[in-house]
Amino acid sequence: MENFEFFNPVKILFGKGQIAKLRGAVPAGARLLVTYGSGSIKRNGVYDQVMANLQGHTVSEFSGIEPNRAYETLMKAVEVVKRERIDFLLAVGGGSVLDGTKFIAAAARFEGEPWDILAKHAPVSAAVPLGAVLTLPATGSEMNFFAVISRAGTHEKFPFSSPLIFPKFSIIDPQVTFTLPARQVGNGIVDAFAHVLEQYLTYPANAPLQDRFAESILLTLIEEGPKTLAHPADYNSRANLCWCATMALNGLIGLGVPQDWTTHMIGHELTALRGLDHAQTLAVVFPAVLAERKQAKRAKLLQYAERVWGIHTGAEDEKIDQAIENTRAFFESVGVKTRLKDYGVAPEVVQLVSKRLAARGWTTLGERQDIGPKEVEAILSHSL
Ligand code: NZQ
Ligand code: ZN
Repeated sequence: MENFEFFNPVKILFGKGQIAKLRGAVPAGARLLVTYGSGSIKRNGVYDQVMANLQGHTVSEFSGIEPNRAYETLMKAVEVVKRERIDFLLAVGGGSVLDGTKFIAAAARFEGEPWDILAKHAPVSAAVPLGAVLTLPATGSEMNFFAVISRAGTHEKFPFSSPLIFPKFSIIDPQVTFTLPARQVGNGIVDAFAHVLEQYLTYPANAPLQDRFAESILLTLIEEGPKTLAHPADYNSRANLCWCATMALNGLIGLGVPQDWTTHMIGHELTALRGLDHAQTLAVVFPAVLAERKQAKRAKLLQYAERVWGIHTGAEDEKIDQAIENTRAFFESVGVKTRLKDYGVAPEVVQLVSKRLAARGWTTLGERQDIGPKEVEAILSHSL
């Protein structure tokens, strides 16, 4: 296990009725901007709950933060923050709204061109403080310092991170997620599963505790995912999905261990170029990465086959193939298709993605930094 530092200051308020705690969580006297998406919170009563618990605060609103084309919209919110002298942001929604609000927080205090935060990794030295009310369990954004932002005009999608964009608090009331369409629940299951795999399916690093944390999240997702899809208003299974998604990307399971993230980096290009949902890209790319990287990931694939899928018999190669097949079947079983053709994406995208990653200089992906343009093409050719 490598040396590590662990810092996670996010206060989590988890469970039924927790939106009432907004009263105490938002700083007294704050000039607040509530940010949200395209209106799901108005239809399911979350907006009313939030506003009822913000009485007495100075509240402005900014709506219309869309999945996957947010940059242009977010810059309008930055104007509002400056004009209204906003000093606290409250994001109410899924990963797109939370990530967008993290970007607004950083961009509003940035000297220079905010796009550089994304495209040039310009360091963030100040940010407006923010809190979150989560409505979609998937990304883990509620308890981490990452954000991924798309720019529609140029078909680009870039991640950024800064400890300054950790939410001060995040409210997770599983009940407010009952109105999610099945597509988004399935997406959430796949995204959380993929976050664990990116930090687990690499090579052994003498980190048995992190391995077992990771395996416990995977096993719980396999158990609870189908239940919550079948019974969308069952509190218990939905609460378990929510907590799995938060724990999958809050830093804990990745401490001191090698990490991959190839699937996510390829996935962001597919979203930017072809508009697939984030989790759809992961369901397409992950089985392909595993198929192509069988040798590099051999020891962990065997451990995954045995401990997560209970495959104890057969030759080693058969166990690995079966584990990869089970992963694909699991994604399909929660309603997320695993082939590019399922989304009407033509094979030419394989070269396009590989060229784009190369043009950005991202030629050392993977836990051993040995995935370049050729390997990306080989990976994606398994996903046709
Ligand atoms: O816009 P609204 O009206 O809110 O509708 C949303 C949206 O259409 C809807 N929705 C959300 N909560 C709902 C609901 N509908 C009914 N009932 C509810 N309770 O769901 C749709 C999708 O929402 P979105 O926020 O886009 O989904 P998700 O949470 O999956 O977020 C995806 C984004 O997060 C990024 C992804 O790249 C993508 O841009 N990620 C962020 C990460 C992070 N910050 O750590 C890590 C992830 O790997 C990921 O990259
Ligand atoms: Zn993800």
